[in-house]
Amino acid sequence: MSAILLFLGVLTSIGLQFTAVQSVGVCYGSDGNNLPTKQDAINLYKSNNIGKIRIYNPDEATLKALRGSNIEVIIGVPNTNLQSLASNAAAASDWVNKYIKPYSSDVKFKYVAVGNEVPPGGAEASHVLPALQNVQKAISAANLQAQIKVSTAIDTTLIENSYPPNNAVFTGTAKPYIQPIITFLKSNGAPLLANVYPYFAYTNNLQSITLQYALFTQQGNNEVGYQNLFDALLDSLYAALEKTGAPDLKIVVSESGWPSQGGTGATVENASTYYKNLIKHAKGGTPKKPSGPIETYLFAMFDENLKQGAETERHFGLFRPDKSPKYQLSFN
Ligand SMILES: *[C@@H]1O[C@H](CO)[C@@H](O)[C@H](O)[C@H]1NC(C)=O
Repeated sequence: MSAILLFLGVLTSIGLQFTAVQSVGVCYGSDGNNLPTKQDAINLYKSNNIGKIRIYNPDEATLKALRGSNIEVIIGVPNTNLQSLASNAAAASDWVNKYIKPYSSDVKFKYVAVGNEVPPGGAEASHVLPALQNVQKAISAANLQAQIKVSTAIDTTLIENSYPPNNAVFTGTAKPYIQPIITFLKSNGAPLLANVYPYFAYTNNLQSITLQYALFTQQGNNEVGYQNLFDALLDSLYAALEKTGAPDLKIVVSESGWPSQGGTGATVENASTYYKNLIKHAKGGTPKKPSGPIETYLFAMFDENLKQGAETERHFGLFRPDKSPKYQLSFN
């Protein structure tokens, strides 16, 4: 009897632990005029057991809908706010007091993403580190520094020589930008956020990259030991970090996705293969960092019909605007 109870107890705790280490979340962009309400969108996260979300701005209707949900949150500081938060510590403290503090008791903030894909070298880039510092001070003043880590989301244009992945380095323009940010992240125990898109690497190099390598369907390793492009891209970032003296800095994949329409390889079938395999793959690690899981945020929840840019940009949704799923994905 007691042995059975003990066994059930063990099963229960394994179950709980499994829920707690769910490694895949979904980015919630809302650049569309036909999308569900914020509350309906968050309900869709809940009904699909999606336990992590990335939002791009501190939208209060979304934050209210997240209250009590147990969903872990990356909250973004939009690039347009960087200058103000960088130049004025009071603005950063107002931001935290308005959007973080009133929700922090029942919204599980995990990271603040201060800026997204800021191009190094420009005026905007000069605001990122001071904005990170001011937001960090405000988070610490609210005594939330243990729970909420402050970081920024980069893209893979910051690296070059990325094949073989071990040869990768930050570009000459990126290095002076990212080096002090890396020092900042290390000293606060925060990860680097990185948006990693095998789709774009594949479509920009069709002559040298196969679809199978991009979709995790290649059999066996290639000549430099890689079975898929996602691992190769992620490890090239790790290799570049190593060379800046940060071999132990963790990378969180803050976006990754595949469009269903509008460009080469962009079909529902290919995208379905990508997302299914990525969810499975994120449970493990990469050749350089074999101990997983890889914390990964799929891009994105919905097709966003008002997004600018290439046609593919409007077809990254896991769900259609009417909330019907494009793919059969399981987040359990
Ligand atoms: C996937 O993309 C490739 C490359 O564009 C295309 O030839 C193929 O038909 C697509 N496969 C599916 C199943 O849609």
